[in-house]
Amino acid sequence: MFASGSLKILLLAFGLFSMANAIALYEGALISDYTGGANEAGMIPGAGWITVMTPENPSRWGIKYLSALGVRGNPTNLTIRSNAGPRFTEPPVFFIKNEQLYQLNNQSSVFHVNVMNTTELSNSRDPADAQSHKLRMEITPQKRGVRGVWKWKGTMLHFEHGGISNRGVFYGCQEEIAPTITSLEIYLTSIPTPKFCQIVTLHSWVGRERPE
Ligand SMILES: *[C@@H]1O[C@H](CO)[C@@H](O)[C@H](O)[C@H]1NC(C)=O
Ligand SMILES: *[C@@H]1O[C@H](CO)[C@@H](O)[C@H](O)[C@H]1NC(C)=O
Ligand SMILES: *[C@@H]1O[C@H](CO)[C@@H](O)[C@H](O)[C@H]1NC(C)=O
Repeated sequence: MFASGSLKILLLAFGLFSMANAIALYEGALISDYTGGANEAGMIPGAGWITVMTPENPSRWGIKYLSALGVRGNPTNLTIRSNAGPRFTEPPVFFIKNEQLYQLNNQSSVFHVNVMNTTELSNSRDPADAQSHKLRMEITPQKRGVRGVWKWKGTMLHFEHGGISNRGVFYGCQEEIAPTITSLEIYLTSIPTPKFCQIVTLHSWVGRERPE
């Protein structure tokens, strides 16, 4: 739907590359806590980069990844970053375990992907509707924020909270104070696209969480 055949192959190649990295990373005690330990392949199932796509003008959007701001190993908000340009660095590797989303931090640790309730309202919605509160994604060493579950449906990432799904819809939003930064927002109802935002979907071609 979003990608041409050759783009899909390219994305698949990226995915396999990052899976190879994930194999090399599978060493530490902490990581084995999150992967059940007895994984004979020594590999975290489904670990890989998350590609961010948009149904609106996909060719202009190009190839983008779920990324982390700042120095790796520090708690930070998740953003969307292009692979273009000389400053390209490898995007972070993510995986789902027991319906929770994690980021591989280094050989021995993982970070939690948390969904934070900003208590700010969507700027395009009746403020009386509590569900139009803006949710943000961050990575930290500790679990915190809104309780919810993460799932792959096909290649597409979904977030659910209290029986309500985002149906795979995320928003890529230009930060007002730093317009070069595209942050991620989640809303649990269908809302008109907020100002300075566009609908995006998050994908992995590496594989799905291993059936338990
Ligand atoms: C892995 O990351 C954690 C948290 O950022 C850090 O405390 C630890 O020293 C790192 N370990 C290695 C081997 O880099
Ligand atoms: C994410 O961004 C918000 C708003 O700028 C900030 O208050 C918060 O500390 C950031 N979260 C992390 C983990 O850095
Ligand atoms: C976010 O916070 C607001 C205000 O406290 C609340 O009404 C809303 O239900 C919260 N949303 C979630 C998903 O926790």
